Amino acid sequence: MASSISYFLFFSSLLFISSSNAQSSFRPHALVIPVSKDSSTLQYVTSINQRTPLVPLQLVVDLGGQFLWVDCEQNYVSSSYRPARCTSAQCSLARGSGCGNCFSAPKPGCNNTTCSVLPDNTVTRTASSDELAEDAVSVQSTDGSNPGRSVSVSKFLFSCAPTSLLEGLASGAKGMAGLAYCTSFTVRFCLQLP
Ligand SMILES: *[C@@H]1O[C@H](CO)[C@@H](O)[C@H](O)[C@H]1NC(C)=O
Ligand SMILES: *[C@@H]1O[C@H](CO)[C@@H](O)[C@H](O)[C@H]1NC(C)=O
Repeated sequence: MASSISYFLFFSSLLFISSSNAQSSFRPHALVIPVSKDSSTLQYVTSINQRTPLVPLQLVVDLGGQFLWVDCEQNYVSSSYRPARCTSAQCSLARGSGCGNCFSAPKPGCNNTTCSVLPDNTVTRTASSDELAEDAVSVQSTDGSNPGRSVSVSKFLFSCAPTSLLEGLASGAKGMAGLAYCTSFTVRFCLQLP
């Protein structure tokens, strides 16, 4: 599936803003993590680990997107998942669009008085209104040829999207990692073109 490998920088200094008790003992300015090109869709795909216990997730890299969003509807099991509340600092950082309620049993993506955000799938140009949440994330860095250290963040902000938002993404992808607004204050991925 992967036809070529390139790399992008992952600005972990920004990540730590929302991470008061990060597990990591080192805080580099940037991590380089591998990106491969999906040969059938030509989308760039990367991989991170999320949740407790950690689960590997393939994500489509979205040059224009603002958020990390992942499918929360299918198989989301994590003891460290926390929805962001409507009036929280996280909600203003992520420029929350409103306050959401949910009338079925509480689960990731369904809780009351949670911050709503509008993740979009920039492949199909579909947006949805979803719960902003935090969960643990771990990324494997690389120096460009060899695997480097893993960096863990205990509270990484993301949007908790429905499975339907995955439509049009590379096979196996569970969400998108947005790369826009590299210099803004919230948690972002930033790109270094190879
Ligand atoms: C949210 O509050 C409503 C009304 O109090 C309640 O019926 C519903 O079950 C709650 N939802 C969750 C996810 O707790
Ligand atoms: C729902 O919110 C309550 C606090 O209001 C929290 O204790 C609980 O963990 C949340 N449930 C889920 C599944 O996110």
